[in-house]
Amino acid sequence: MTQRLQKLIAAAGLASRRQAEGWIIAGRVTLNGRIACLGDRADLEEDCVQVDGRSLQPRQPWVYLLLNKPVGYVTTARDPQGRNLVTDLVRDVPVRLFPVGRLDLNTEGLLLLTNDGALAARLTHPRHRVAKTYLVRVRGALSNEIRQRLEAGVELEDGLTAPARIARVRSGGSHTWFEITLYEGRNRQVRRMCEMVGLPVSRLKRVGLASLNLEGVRVGHYRHLTAGEVALLKKL
Ligand code: URA
Repeated sequence: MTQRLQKLIAAAGLASRRQAEGWIIAGRVTLNGRIACLGDRADLEEDCVQVDGRSLQPRQPWVYLLLNKPVGYVTTARDPQGRNLVTDLVRDVPVRLFPVGRLDLNTEGLLLLTNDGALAARLTHPRHRVAKTYLVRVRGALSNEIRQRLEAGVELEDGLTAPARIARVRSGGSHTWFEITLYEGRNRQVRRMCEMVGLPVSRLKRVGLASLNLEGVRVGHYRHLTAGEVALLKKL
């Protein structure tokens, strides 16, 4: 389907339609090798539209996956040490996906993968205070005093942590399990908070992100988010 060039340029996120019209008038846009005119239409599957010599790509469909990350996978796009990448687990999706936020090599659980950079930026921006819930196993006992410290905020080397919530505390021998919900996402935050109060983490799994959980997704597997789930995330 052909569309006006200014609409294609705007849809690619390069400019507003009005700005794109200005670029066309200024001769910065070419269509199949010739300077484009206002009113020209193109189909990016068949035509070559360039702005300042750079080609517009046909827009790929947005993909949103909820992955249950196993331990031993890194959440970066590449790894110089050749370790397993989370994206290796989704070979059958033909678009380039990137993880929303990070989980450590030894952290398992809920990880979103998408090609929608705008939504990824929203979900990870501290301003939006998106809830992230972790199931934690620590060595030692969670006293009331330590629980209150973790919930109120712990002084780390990068500052005081924001208020958190702790629930479902269960003790088993020398270990304690609990869930902690954070509204910020600093590097290795749960591990560092727990270490700071003298409770080393021996297992860490993200079990919730906003309204999403891991139900029905086995370790190492993923599912596509539903349209309703995506719409809810966009409203956050
Ligand atoms: N907190 C951590 O310490 N590690 C993670 O992977 C996520 C949160």
